[in-house]
Amino acid sequence: MNITIIGTGYVGLVTGTCFSEMGNEVYCVDVIEEKIESLKQGIIPIYEPGLEELIKHNYNNGNLHFTTDLFEGLSDSQLCFIAVGTPMGEDGSADLRYVRQVAKQIGQTITQDIIVVDKSTVPVGTADEVETIINKELDKRNKNYKVTVVSNPEFLKEGTAVNDFMHPERVIVGTDDDSAAEIMKELYDPFTKNHERMIIMDVRSAEMTKYASNSMLANRISFMNEMANICDKIGANIDNVRRGMGSDSRIGHSFLYPGCGYGGSCFPKDVTALIKTAQDNGLNPVLLKSVEEVNHNQKYYLINKIINIFGEDLSGLTFALWGLAFKPETDDMREASSIIIVENLLKMGAKVNVYDPKAMDVAKEFYFKDLDVNYFSDKYSVLEDADALILVTEWKEFRNPNFNKIKSLLKNNIIFDGRNQYKNSYMKKLDFEYHAVGK
Ligand SMILES: NC(=O)c1ccc[n+]([C@@H]2O[C@H](COP(=O)([O-])OP(=O)(O)OC[C@H]3O[C@@H](n4cnc5c(N)ncnc54)[C@H](O)[C@@H]3O)[C@@H](O)[C@H]2O)c1
Repeated sequence: MNITIIGTGYVGLVTGTCFSEMGNEVYCVDVIEEKIESLKQGIIPIYEPGLEELIKHNYNNGNLHFTTDLFEGLSDSQLCFIAVGTPMGEDGSADLRYVRQVAKQIGQTITQDIIVVDKSTVPVGTADEVETIINKELDKRNKNYKVTVVSNPEFLKEGTAVNDFMHPERVIVGTDDDSAAEIMKELYDPFTKNHERMIIMDVRSAEMTKYASNSMLANRISFMNEMANICDKIGANIDNVRRGMGSDSRIGHSFLYPGCGYGGSCFPKDVTALIKTAQDNGLNPVLLKSVEEVNHNQKYYLINKIINIFGEDLSGLTFALWGLAFKPETDDMREASSIIIVENLLKMGAKVNVYDPKAMDVAKEFYFKDLDVNYFSDKYSVLEDADALILVTEWKEFRNPNFNKIKSLLKNNIIFDGRNQYKNSYMKKLDFEYHAVGK
């Protein structure tokens, strides 16, 4: 099939690349010229395991194209995916300006019937709006092409995006149009060869499924954070409680990890947007609001522990951070807990040393641009003469470090672990003062 992907970010680039890997001819379109030029030269703008090889392979064999010219991108396309960002708007709702812009451009550009697929996470009703915008532009041009808008929310996870896309647990397709459903089945068939994983439903339910899924996952995290905070006070260990809870098949082990708050480009904005949708419809989404509040407070969990031990004046003290990204295997720092931790340490007068295997360039360029942060090239040099280590992102390389080396480098044997990577008993044996979440 000939496919156009509009928006070449995390989702668009992975989607386009994986479709091209299955033999489709894919045009990835973006408005950022430097991004498209870099991609043509084999320079990948994001870190995502396995992506670079696939892009190079399919670009070189002619299945994958990059362009800023939408007309070129759409010239021979039966299917056009919208994969632009839908960031949080000022009032908390999803900001649809890029989606609307793209819809308008599609209406101004197409020269044949088309199926438009909403891949971006968009509020219920957006597919209808996209169709209206496109048809309005076609009316202006006196064109009568058939436009079918399908919802196909994306569930890939940054860090395992290629694998998630190649082996989806399910593919949600929202459409009432039988021929569009058939084409979507044909497109996804190579990814779901061993058994049918496509769930076809009405458009509005498909749009809602994405928000409900992300809110459920955020809910599990906030629930476990609340349990961890209670464990802290009553002398229980959340690790044991988690294992006990997870062994109930109705609960399961996934997504039961407490920590120093969730971040990223999806959970925070999607929970907030769903709250706004509920409120706009006259509801008071009490549970969703609590999920958000618990998460906000949890981002201050480590800072509060640090204040308990060192007080509020941290001048003369140095803290070493392990990890900046909102989770491992990505360089994405959107809404990462590290941002709040670093900003607050600096505000209280501390010196801050940081190390992250992939996110330091992003930190320098965007998040800590105007902050006095010291960057180190490995997990040990960052510790030299620091008063404590703060683990914020659970990269694999932090799982089993050389603790004797850590001791020899730190001024005090103190670890604040925001991701519960180590065992209390082992830390005690090694003579560390160990502060984790809920244990
Ligand atoms: N990142 C994730 O893990 C993830 C997972 C599932 C769903 N989503 C959803 O997918 C959508 C995209 O997210 P992302 O993380 O890929 O965003 P992103 O910010 O990484 O990428 C969006 C891209 O769209 C481009 N763009 C904006 N306007 C354009 C236009 N008019 N024409 C062409 N390109 C344009 C931007 O330049 C940017 O490169 C969002 O709705 C997000 O919620 C993201």
